[in-house]
Amino acid sequence: MKPYFKQISQPHVIGEELMADAINGLRAAGYTLAACAARLGVNSMSGIPFFNGTPSIQDKVTLLLDLFIRQKAVLMIQLEEILSIKQLESLQQMNLINVEAGEVTSDFCLFPCYDKYIVTDHIVKNDAINQIMYLFTESYILGGVVERKPLKRTLDLCTGSGVHAILAASHSEEVIGIDINPRAIAFAEFNAQLNGVHNAKFLLGDLYQPVEGDFDLIIANPPYNPDVLTRAGENFWSGGVTGMEVLSQIIKGLPAFLAEGGRSIIISLFPIMPGTTIQQYVTEWLGSDSAYFDAFESTVFTDNSNSIYYQMPAYIKNENFRFGLLRLKKRVSSKAGEWQVHQMQAVFDGAGVPMHTIKL
Ligand SMILES: C[S@@+](CC[C@H](N)C(=O)[O-])C[C@H]1O[C@@H](n2cnc3c(N)ncnc32)[C@H](O)[C@@H]1O
Repeated sequence: MKPYFKQISQPHVIGEELMADAINGLRAAGYTLAACAARLGVNSMSGIPFFNGTPSIQDKVTLLLDLFIRQKAVLMIQLEEILSIKQLESLQQMNLINVEAGEVTSDFCLFPCYDKYIVTDHIVKNDAINQIMYLFTESYILGGVVERKPLKRTLDLCTGSGVHAILAASHSEEVIGIDINPRAIAFAEFNAQLNGVHNAKFLLGDLYQPVEGDFDLIIANPPYNPDVLTRAGENFWSGGVTGMEVLSQIIKGLPAFLAEGGRSIIISLFPIMPGTTIQQYVTEWLGSDSAYFDAFESTVFTDNSNSIYYQMPAYIKNENFRFGLLRLKKRVSSKAGEWQVHQMQAVFDGAGVPMHTIKL
């Protein structure tokens, strides 16, 4: 039977104070990253597996997890015990909850993400919309390892929900988030307002195309899966047939768009061919500019062969794939670039708090 795909509209911006009040209500109810981690269990290698865990106890936090992550209907009378009528009305006006016959549902996910709250589409595949990627473990890892030190300009490529731009807004004077999907720009702008962020702007376009000047930090979580069914840029997962079409363009743009001394932190699958290394690909993409870059690679083997979203080309073999973080640092003068390789270590402790940052 053909699956039924539903058109889902977008969240609505309402008055800033009402948005802040609704978020404060969720925070006061204990709907925080640490509390969710405690209810769901944490995989220390990969952040919070929001969709895998089954809450061990029933309380206010699990009620909100049911509503905003697990796509369950909850009772209005239960929500009224933890949120005010005004906060519930605001959530309804923002289109974040639907109320019918005493039951409440949500068309969206609403994640606590460090000290911010991020709205995305649901995990269930829906071809009627160009889905905004739910916060995946990789979103938390990247958000957790970026050193939060003061910076002038930050660029978040492939921003999706805007999560990394919004996190960077707290330590950057100016942030720009870019996405090729108009729905992502709408979600990112909504999420910035939801969190009272005013120094981040979101531009529709293909990677660096809408921006000028250079940046101190370029963050990216590109679509990276090798896919024969869809083209790179059509959705949140496809990196084209090789899986590296978007990743390679991001790295090729770094010499021009990173300021001297600037850094890029990228989290990605590196679907490299057997017998090759990530360093070989990156060096080729950077060309003669590779002499200006030092690299810190922190990856782990991953099996990415099974998914309902994409189909890998038959000739691509999974066994050499790496997944993880790559930091590239642009030096002022050229010399043979230094390339450090590390296994990806546990980056989160038992409460979902990152144990180390990647120094910028
Ligand atoms: C893996 S999601 C990352 C979402 C978010 N940054 C996160 O970490 O949770 C990749 C995003 O890249 C966007 N994208 C794909 N190709 C792009 C391109 N050429 N230029 C800009 N954005 C692109 C997709 O629309 C999608 O929102």
